[in-house]
Amino acid sequence: MALKTLNIIGAGRVGRSLAHLWHKQGVFAVQDVLTRSQASADEAVQFIGTGRAVTQLSDMRAADVWMLAVPDGQIQNVVFDLSSEIENKAVASVFIDSYAIIFHCSGALSSAELQPLKSIEDRGLQVASAHCILSFSAPSSAVTQFAGTPCALEGDAAATQMLQLAFEAIGANCFDIAEKDKVLYHAAAVFATNFLPVLQVVAADLWQSTGMPKDLIAPLNASLLQKAVQNIAAQGAAKALTGPAARGDTELVALQGAAVADWHAEAGTAYAALSELASQIAKNGSIRK
Ligand SMILES: NC(=O)c1ccc[n+]([C@@H]2O[C@H](COP(=O)([O-])OP(=O)(O)OC[C@H]3O[C@@H](n4cnc5c(N)ncnc54)[C@H](OP(=O)(O)O)[C@@H]3O)[C@@H](O)[C@H]2O)c1
Repeated sequence: MALKTLNIIGAGRVGRSLAHLWHKQGVFAVQDVLTRSQASADEAVQFIGTGRAVTQLSDMRAADVWMLAVPDGQIQNVVFDLSSEIENKAVASVFIDSYAIIFHCSGALSSAELQPLKSIEDRGLQVASAHCILSFSAPSSAVTQFAGTPCALEGDAAATQMLQLAFEAIGANCFDIAEKDKVLYHAAAVFATNFLPVLQVVAADLWQSTGMPKDLIAPLNASLLQKAVQNIAAQGAAKALTGPAARGDTELVALQGAAVADWHAEAGTAYAALSELASQIAKNGSIRK
């Protein structure tokens, strides 16, 4: 059986990485790859290893599957442009084939973002969202780190079933997420990974402002982080918790909180909020009420 064709709109970190893996595993025949600039589309095709670089929606051919890997704030714009493109075609429905699947990669947004396309294209179009819980900081490392990545699927059943097979073929662990839970689900991913670099930068800036030799800071941060990760993996996060708030040293927490707030207002707010959470976790093992 011929491979399903895949068109890609937005081929930055996520688009390139997934398309590269699908091409390598022979899951999809990657067809047209659209970004905003020709240079970026050419680069994406080079990284993926196949495909045709385009910058105009009107140049894209019909495909079985469409992946939108544009930033979240651009999804509505792309849906609008796609809708106009479909409506403007002299022969209806050549842009998106019958029973095509279209999905986006956002963690917080749901497949509802794509619903407007269904009302225009009444030919069995299936919509979904597929979010892989990995920091795709650079495609070259993301493709080596991808195996074992959990992937949250949500949307029309025919779309999520097909996507489950496609994501599992490149090593993802798929699970279903309800549309109503996506925003909070994604907030959890922000806590789990996105805030770690923030905390590291705050610590480095604070250390620097106290006169610690600059060349000590990066290795110290890396070493503390590595040991914390080892402890969390070995004991579980709640048991690995240390520090003044976890010990119930409220005087020191207050003193330190005030000093941090003097140094940087938002860092002070974060210190107070995180200290309160640390104290709840130390008492209850969790922050659930
Ligand atoms: N990065 C992560 O760790 C991560 C993890 C999981 C899910 N996601 C989700 O994946 C999606 C993509 O994120 P990303 O990090 O891959 O973004 P990215 O690296 O910034 O790449 C975005 C791509 O979209 C293109 N683009 C932007 N606006 C466009 C438009 N209006 N029309 C067509 N193409 C457009 C850009 O083109 P140019 O190259 O020409 O600028 C670029 O190729 C988002 O929904 C994000 O929430 C991200």
